[in-house]
Amino acid sequence: MKFFVRTFGCQMNVYDSELISELLLKEGLKESPSPEEADVILVNTCTVRQKAEERGHEYARFWKRRGKKVVILGCLAQQDKEKLLDVADLVIGTRSYTLLPGTIKELLKKGEKAVLTEDRGLIDLTEVSLKRSPRLSSFSEFVTIMRGCDNFCSYCIVPYVRGREMSRPPEMILSEIKNLESRGIIEVTLLGQNVNSYFYGGTDFAELLEMIDKNTSLYRLRFTTSHPRDMSYKTIKTIMNSKRITHWFHLPLQAGSTKVLRLMRRGYTKEEYLDLVGTIRGLDPDASVTTDIMVGFPGEEEEDFLETLDVVEKAGFDHAYTFIFTKRPRTAAFYMKETLSPREKGKRLRRLIESVNKTVWQRRQRMLGRTYELLIEGPSRKDKNLSRGRTDGNITVVVTKRLEPGTRVLAKIRDIKGLTPIADVVKNLN
Ligand code: SAM
Ligand code: SF4
Ligand code: F3S
Repeated sequence: MKFFVRTFGCQMNVYDSELISELLLKEGLKESPSPEEADVILVNTCTVRQKAEERGHEYARFWKRRGKKVVILGCLAQQDKEKLLDVADLVIGTRSYTLLPGTIKELLKKGEKAVLTEDRGLIDLTEVSLKRSPRLSSFSEFVTIMRGCDNFCSYCIVPYVRGREMSRPPEMILSEIKNLESRGIIEVTLLGQNVNSYFYGGTDFAELLEMIDKNTSLYRLRFTTSHPRDMSYKTIKTIMNSKRITHWFHLPLQAGSTKVLRLMRRGYTKEEYLDLVGTIRGLDPDASVTTDIMVGFPGEEEEDFLETLDVVEKAGFDHAYTFIFTKRPRTAAFYMKETLSPREKGKRLRRLIESVNKTVWQRRQRMLGRTYELLIEGPSRKDKNLSRGRTDGNITVVVTKRLEPGTRVLAKIRDIKGLTPIADVVKNLN
């Protein structure tokens, strides 16, 4: 019995897919290197935007038509349940993964379809996480520290498909990281929809960071995503005082106008957001601040959009993911009246991207002539004779030399091509 896992969506899904693969291997199933050779194809889906949803659905349909057994998991499974049975044999929700091995075996034996989306807790999955081998890469891994979200931002489906916020015990997180470290992992990214609200048995996020910092010898410790409202000064200071924790702050802005932020139920104003960025850059002017921004939220007028462009300019982002708002079922914004046509939304997105690129370009110019520590991830996407590495601030740099993934180097930025810094190796740090 061979399985193949295809993952759509965010890092949380990537992490879950890793644990699911471990779980199935432990139960005696074999992993297939390609979907063609697999008996069963697992599609871990996303539903945060319409397009993400379609991609997972299409992938499942493609393999179902070719006669494969298909399992749909993840956020779309939790949302659409029975509706997915036309493209899947088994639909399994975000908190039911522990049922997977048994039901897959049944499915392959008897061919019965099933939909399992009730909350089974994820205890067994956690057990698997403690002994797992790295699958993402030989040097970098994700570790989920909390599941779900309680924020209910008015546009977002995540709390409905991932359930209530649930933090994992700190000892368990540490033990998972130590196991990964013993297997060669030197960079860990802690995951959660809102890591700043992590809390377990008296330990808050800053204390968790400190505990990992003190008890491991990781090269880099990262985390994502932070909610700007909950990023405390205590956490910022902990980061600044540590050699291990990177100075990379992913702070999703969503919108620059306080009016729209209120409609989105984000819990901060434009000024509070800019103050937060100011505090971080006041402590470290080179700290990398990245963000997510959405255009076309219901009620976003031209003047509101201009406020977004204003924040982009003032915050000086090092990178930004940009999106067009799309209505998601069950969310509060689903019932709000859309005020922009798709064409107008597209125009705003293009203007936003232009403004983001300008700011990012300015931030990149600061890097010219300076040296940075890079962790090499693999060959450059455009030229296999060059390498691609990341700075502490999570900025991708192209290195003018072929290097093994996992190598650490000191490199000097000699050029900025487009928005990509190009660097020469000064010293190998391994
Ligand atoms: N938890 C993070 C936060 O609070 O920002 C990120 C959650 S979400 C998985 C990733 C990004 O998708 C969000 O930051 C937002 O910009 C975007 N997003 C969420 N819902 C959306 C929607 N309905 N339409 C367009 N973009 C959306
Ligand atoms: Fe969605 Fe808001 Fe939760 Fe992020 S914080 S996952 S945007 S509800
Ligand atoms: Fe998508 Fe679910 Fe992540 S909706 S963005 S895969 S939490």
